[in-house]
Amino acid sequence: MKIIITKDYEELSAKAAKVMLEVVKDNPYAVLGLATGTTPLGLYAHMIADHEKHGTSYAHIRTVNLDEYKGLAKTHPQSYAYFMRKNLFDGLGIDPENTNIENGMAADEAKECARYDALLEQLPRDLQLLGLGSNGHIAFNEPGTPFSSGTHVVTLAESTVKDNARLFDDISEVPRKAFTMGIKQIMQAKKILILASGANKADAVCKMVKGEVTEAVPASVLQLHPDCILIADREAAAKL
Ligand code: F6R
Repeated sequence: MKIIITKDYEELSAKAAKVMLEVVKDNPYAVLGLATGTTPLGLYAHMIADHEKHGTSYAHIRTVNLDEYKGLAKTHPQSYAYFMRKNLFDGLGIDPENTNIENGMAADEAKECARYDALLEQLPRDLQLLGLGSNGHIAFNEPGTPFSSGTHVVTLAESTVKDNARLFDDISEVPRKAFTMGIKQIMQAKKILILASGANKADAVCKMVKGEVTEAVPASVLQLHPDCILIADREAAAKL
């Protein structure tokens, strides 16, 4: 794993944008695996600023997202589909037809997981962007998820519900279940970029990088990927 430590979140976002833009400029038909959450917001702002200033084209870029809350429609303001439109896709002018995310409203969970698995087979990711859960999760693969997992429905760990409550009016509104891409599929990406910011990620960063490769710390699997870059700010890297 290549590790880049930055002085702060702004530098982390700028460095992440450099990695992302290299992929997009290198291959205008690239498939990007994308993440939601707070961490990539700075990177997404840089991508939009670059698109506006330099006209980097996303006309042929296709995207696949990691996860979606179960029970939230894509029009729901807390859904990840909505988050992506608002924070990235609208700003880049990406055709919604070229974007993919699990359908949180799918009545048949198994069928929706099979649909997403098939889609991921057809869309090998040139770059997979990841955030890191404070409990070591990647996407919504919580501790204990088999490394061989494909798309599945998870019951979110209590710590994840608490971490995500800040984005809802009340913790009772945080969905308890989500669809998530599996670890096997994350590892299939040609390149992985994982971002970590803030002191509450320091333990997880340390276990991911220096700890044993174990399903108890899902992100530790990234030690086995041939082209994985971690960009962490000083606070998140404090225990390395
Ligand atoms: C989001 C996702 C999650 C987050 C992680 C960190 O699509 O899959 O794994 O990346 O929970 O979230 P933030 O960035 O909000 O700290």
